[in-house]
Amino acid sequence: MAALEQGSIVAVIGSGAMGAGIAQVAAASGYRVKLFDTRPGAVDKAIADIGKVYATLVEKGRMSGDAAVAAHARLQSVATLKEVDDAALVIEAIVENLDVKRMLFADLENVVGDDCILATNTSSISVTAIAAPLRRPQRLVGMHFFNPVPLMALVEVISGLATDPAVADTVYATASAWGKNPVHAKSTPGFIVNRVARPFYAEGLRLLQEQAASAATLDAVMRDCGGFRMGPFELMDLIGHDVNFSVTQSVFNAYFGDPRFTPSVLQQEMVNAGFFGRKSGRGFYQYGEGATRAAA
Ligand code: NAI
Repeated sequence: MAALEQGSIVAVIGSGAMGAGIAQVAAASGYRVKLFDTRPGAVDKAIADIGKVYATLVEKGRMSGDAAVAAHARLQSVATLKEVDDAALVIEAIVENLDVKRMLFADLENVVGDDCILATNTSSISVTAIAAPLRRPQRLVGMHFFNPVPLMALVEVISGLATDPAVADTVYATASAWGKNPVHAKSTPGFIVNRVARPFYAEGLRLLQEQAASAATLDAVMRDCGGFRMGPFELMDLIGHDVNFSVTQSVFNAYFGDPRFTPSVLQQEMVNAGFFGRKSGRGFYQYGEGATRAAA
């Protein structure tokens, strides 16, 4: 199955950490990208930040100046959903909430053409459930990127029960064309990576609650002795505690309250406090100017 043609329009809905990363990769691969977000200023900030990343890549000799200018020019901010009517692929990267995602796709179905593929970057919500209320659920597929999108090669292409295999194949080929290493997976709770990763976070959080060691020590042990690129606490800070906590809740509920996936009260409190990690300036560590990255 062929990838979507270079130059086709990819709409990215939600321009937070993931949406911005997806837009950066798609535009650099020759696709025209329309970015939409409900938060005022979010899209303009994302496009400006992507421009800075391209400039850094040029400085490091990993992208030509012409390619950077052309890629940046392929990024377009749109103020209303109606403006994504000509998209060949829409990738949703908004809040991790089933009802909100369903509402968005219902709106999109009234806007896009019949051949447009609808993709969700959900970390853990059933792709089958997101697609179910659509008039044409067969066109919806999971396209699950990892954070940070430009650096992480894996993309899980998730088929729900109704997903047309041809749609999954096109998304798989398109992810390959973007330099990613896609894998096909079925819509099971947490899919592959987020399922396997739950105990990594959960046991780290339990160890911390039992005061076995500090977050920094536990991270160092997993990094230096366990061979992980990041320990659980710095990784949760990168992902965002709001997102990570929602994923755990979603997997826990999907497995009918299986205690193996019980969400952490400690992490719930961090979410209650607005300590989301890097994006809010504080998580298990402090970020930003003058912060000493000490454990919270
Ligand atoms: P984020 O909080 O950085 O960005 C979400 C963006 O969506 C925000 O800018 C928000 O204003 C916007 N938004 C919310 N509702 C919207 C709506 N109805 N229409 C348009 N825009 C809306 O979140 P992040 O981390 O980018 O996550 C987005 C999605 O990607 C979630 O489903 C998450 O589970 C998933 N994901 C997150 C990963 C991570 O490491 N953070 C990794 C892989 C997937």
